[in-house]
Amino acid sequence: MIRARITGTGSYVPEKILTNKDFEKYLDTTDEWIVARTGIRERHIAAEGENTSDLCLKAARNAIDMAGIKAEDIDLIVVATITGDYPWPATACIVQNKLGAKQCGAYDISAACSGFIYALSNAVAQIESGTIKRALVIGAETLSRIVDYNDRNTCLLFGDAAGAVVLEAREGERGILSSHLHSDGSYFELLGQPAFGTAVTPTEEIVRDRGYFLTMQGNEVFKVAVKMLAEVAQEAVEANGMTVDDIDLLIPHQANIRILEATAKRMKLPSEKVYINVDRFGNTSAATIPLALDEANRAGKLKENDLLVLNAFGGGFTWAATCLRW
Ligand code: COA
Repeated sequence: MIRARITGTGSYVPEKILTNKDFEKYLDTTDEWIVARTGIRERHIAAEGENTSDLCLKAARNAIDMAGIKAEDIDLIVVATITGDYPWPATACIVQNKLGAKQCGAYDISAACSGFIYALSNAVAQIESGTIKRALVIGAETLSRIVDYNDRNTCLLFGDAAGAVVLEAREGERGILSSHLHSDGSYFELLGQPAFGTAVTPTEEIVRDRGYFLTMQGNEVFKVAVKMLAEVAQEAVEANGMTVDDIDLLIPHQANIRILEATAKRMKLPSEKVYINVDRFGNTSAATIPLALDEANRAGKLKENDLLVLNAFGGGFTWAATCLRW
């Protein structure tokens, strides 16, 4: 049977680091509070003029090099992002051009922090159906551009990054086994960026009142996230006739250490089977999973035939999981 297998991973984080101490200098907060409530110690922030497509490009080149292919071999580029260079055209098209890929399909997917799993499942379906042979799937965000650095409820949480994978058609049991996508739009107001779109167009008032930044009801998000992250990961393993005990490594969306710990506890999964790097990068939305996957891969933590589960939760609300045999 033809499966989509990850043959290369790559990632990139901008050079500039913002530490908790940097926030202490001007906000009513402390390093202790941030670490205790979120587990985050630092996050990377894009330089002026460094845009999401630039982050994508660096992550993509690393993944392509590892896969040992050329940019012109790619049949499809999917970028998961909520902070594209422009509302449109798609950041994926900008990446296609910068990468020197042939005139392949290229589009963005908007599913907030679940975006990478949504994008992955979309590319996998095209490989499994025989429509394409190779896809480049990227999760990338420049959240620093939509975060209000005077809002202590949100600004501490987010960072900028990109992660990418090359997916190729391969015979055998190794590869993506299944993907599970969910949403509940009744929660749409709890986490998002209200402006600017067709519902809220730019006005002087909105710009003056700083109404164009990311907004979040943290407590509400927390409660639903823990429940859905655990449920969807369980759904993914059960769909493949396995149980949580079969998981070698869970690579969850890195939102907050307390969400990760509560999810693992709910799943009865030992903490050593949960990959965590939120302390060094914060929440980079669609980039967290491919960034963590690349880090784990390059550190030699993934062994052939390992059962990996990726799970994510984000604005929408959306939530999703992927089960894969490495
Ligand atoms: N520094 C210091 N104190 C802060 C603070 C900060 N940055 N932000 C809030 N506080 C204070 C509050 O004012 C409150 O004080 P009070 O008890 O005197 O009223 C107290 O800390 C607790 O605030 P609360 O908002 O209940 O904190 P919390 O435990 O819910 O933590 C979040 C806040 C944002 C860290 C938490 O809700 C969270 O992680 N939510 C999920 C967010 C997320 O991951 N979103 C993305 C999902 S993809």
